[in-house]
Amino acid sequence: MSTGDTKGTKRLLIRTWGCQMNVYDSERMAEVLAPLGFSATESPEDADMVILNTCHIREKAAEKLYSELGRLRVVKDARAESGHATVLAVAGCVAQAEGAEIARRAPHVDLVLGPQTIHRLPEMVARASRAGGLVLDTDFPEESKFDHLPAHRPAQGVTAFLTVQEGCDKFCAFCVVPYTRGAEASRPAAAVLAEARGLVAQGTREITLLGQNVNAYHGEGAGTLAALLYQLAEIPGIARLRYMTSHPRDMDDALIAAHGDLPQLMPMLHLPVQSGADGVLAAMNRGHTADDFRRIVDRLRAARPDLAFSSDFIVGHPGESDADHAATLALVREIGFASAYTFKYSPRPGTPAARAPYQVPEAVKDARLRELQALMVEQQLAFNNSRIGAQFEVLITGPGRHPGQIAGRSPWLQAVHAEGPETLTGQVVRVEAIAASANSLHCVLKEPQQHPSEQHAA
Ligand code: 5AD
Ligand code: SF4
Repeated sequence: MSTGDTKGTKRLLIRTWGCQMNVYDSERMAEVLAPLGFSATESPEDADMVILNTCHIREKAAEKLYSELGRLRVVKDARAESGHATVLAVAGCVAQAEGAEIARRAPHVDLVLGPQTIHRLPEMVARASRAGGLVLDTDFPEESKFDHLPAHRPAQGVTAFLTVQEGCDKFCAFCVVPYTRGAEASRPAAAVLAEARGLVAQGTREITLLGQNVNAYHGEGAGTLAALLYQLAEIPGIARLRYMTSHPRDMDDALIAAHGDLPQLMPMLHLPVQSGADGVLAAMNRGHTADDFRRIVDRLRAARPDLAFSSDFIVGHPGESDADHAATLALVREIGFASAYTFKYSPRPGTPAARAPYQVPEAVKDARLRELQALMVEQQLAFNNSRIGAQFEVLITGPGRHPGQIAGRSPWLQAVHAEGPETLTGQVVRVEAIAASANSLHCVLKEPQQHPSEQHAA
């Protein structure tokens, strides 16, 4: 790269795949590179540095990465011919899992870094530009990246993510996360609260706490996710709190109670169940049965009656029979989800399920996926329709798609459109839903609007 550039003249492109934790990591990578003079661009041709932040959780992640790297090689060569260097970095879980293999198959890559070493990026960029050759850092370092990332983050907007926990010790049979993100680790409450206060001071009203296993949170100074939520709810100006992704096994009494106690905690919970069949859940090493899940849902609904659920499902896990699949459909009908992510099982190298003898044929997986997805579309639409005529609070996030329209988020994470002034951005306003589609609600504002200082949560 051209090290002689003056501050602010270098362009950075980050492409992000996968979960919200990757979105958060990408934001933080942009932040640590800003002091080196990098600002964002969308165009690879203009980019002095490109970071591909990858996801390894399902399907062909590596193939997608190598084809993207093939396209970027052409761009890098063309830029080199016109005298511009390009630093090409691969980050995230594919980088963690494949490490040196990436360098072997794509020698034009300059940096390979895992999710736990993003704070070392400035140093890696300097090393790459000084010495050339590959810089590889896929350690699970002793020090936490969070202790080395800037405490103060730039403004994030009305809604923001905040990572409080990383890694997973659950070892579900199908999942690579425990291998790519490492063991469970929680940030101290003081660090989380400081980051939250900083976000709120810059206009954030809704914070979603992130973690691969967020309800296993056990950070110093709080001890449990419930305790952390109570502490966060004390911060003036936080209108809304959410958290994801949770494991049913860690849904403890205090957390269930928090859903009843804390008006800031929004009534939409992402709680993956993966399957409705006990045999499959056991093969998955989930540590809970379908009835355990039903009981948790019942207790949560008793604590917070308007609580809606979303979930993750895998069809075609090794050993899944037609009867098992029927049990999943039955569970879905019984619970009634507001939304869901449905996946076809994809064998991940190195995981126990990939070695299981009874792999489900692809055509069967396809048919089961279609069936489950059709049911989910129906449930999502039914849930959205059930809001029509209801009044509730919406957090306005900015202008809408059409002139005179504003956009926002319902308590249940639905996209909301309404006629109204953009000056309401950042405020929680009362609305009535008048129409629904599969993906959004159309609403009208209701009078009187509260003064922002009197606002609590929806
Ligand atoms: N195949 C299919 N889906 C998977 N998930 C995780 N690993 C796999 C896999 N090997 C899904 C799970 C998880 C979500 C983030 O991705 O449903 O909850
Ligand atoms: Fe993967 Fe299971 Fe951990 Fe979730 S709980 S990250 S599915 S191992």
